[in-house]
Amino acid sequence: MEVFDLIASMQNEISAAAPANSEQLEQFRIRFLGSKNVIKPLFAEMKNVPNDRKKEFGQLLNSLKESAEEKFKSVQESFESNADEEYDLDVTAPGFPLIQGTRHPISLAMERIINIFTKIGFVIAEDREIEDDWHNFTALNTPDDHPARDMQDTFYLQGSTEQLLRTHTSSVQTRVMTSHKPPIRIIAPGRVYRNETISARSHCQFHQIEGLYIDKNVSFADMKQTLLYFAREMYGPDTRIRMRPSYFPFTEPSAEVDVYWGLKDETDYRITKGTGWLEVLGCGMVDPAVLNNCGIDPEEYSGFAFGMGIERQAMLLHRIGDIRQFFENDVRFLKQFSAVL
Ligand code: PHE
Repeated sequence: MEVFDLIASMQNEISAAAPANSEQLEQFRIRFLGSKNVIKPLFAEMKNVPNDRKKEFGQLLNSLKESAEEKFKSVQESFESNADEEYDLDVTAPGFPLIQGTRHPISLAMERIINIFTKIGFVIAEDREIEDDWHNFTALNTPDDHPARDMQDTFYLQGSTEQLLRTHTSSVQTRVMTSHKPPIRIIAPGRVYRNETISARSHCQFHQIEGLYIDKNVSFADMKQTLLYFAREMYGPDTRIRMRPSYFPFTEPSAEVDVYWGLKDETDYRITKGTGWLEVLGCGMVDPAVLNNCGIDPEEYSGFAFGMGIERQAMLLHRIGDIRQFFENDVRFLKQFSAVL
């Protein structure tokens, strides 16, 4: 039948059509999809088609219409995406500002402290956070009945009395002394854990930096000068420090170092409890018993060790009032450090 031939030739025409610009596409649309399109009158031919071919005829017409719609859509889309490429590129437009990443204030403080000590010859030592009792306590002269070993303070691994989360970076001292011969001059930054109630001032996880210097004839005066150098690099060239006698099982004598912070405003009064002095680290001469435990002859060698909390240093540097903010990862908090290098 003639009308079937007509449909076939239109189908060919639609398949072959390749409108090259919007004008040609518009002509295509008017011819096949417009209100007076060439497909519409063919539906009226239905009455002339023999009954046994009516179904086939209807299907052919529908698919003719559909392929015209598809062709129109796909050509139109290809024009639009080309248009993007051609016209949206303005090489004279100002660039987008690069979004700068932000370093975590703990990392910033840690790096600052590391730089201060590596400048005078300390090297970084790192070790495991899951420690055994010996490296964390026993070797460090901490007796079995010492309260720090209590479940209240120490996280033991489930069902274990041996494996624990290190409570201080002093465990790295043990690791290094048992595996290296003096001279030893290390700083050990890392995460430590204590089973403490979380508050604005303390957290169950925090960071410390440990220092250890062992050689022949290392004296208390060496320690004092090293820590004074640190305080001045950290808090400014005029910084004053004082040492107060203290106690740690693994050092003898032991001291706590305070930095003179001043009493300029109300916050200073609060954080220094009205004294102007701020405790920043613990230190001492390595106890001969500890050297012995680690296979170093205390007759031949002596040394000093110190340890400090990094959160505390970062809180002082940036005047942060609540330790929990370090662990909440609130971007509004973190973004404040984007300009700090
Ligand atoms: N480990 C001690 C603490 O966590 C700090 C310290 C380290 C003290 C080294 C003396 C020497 O409090």
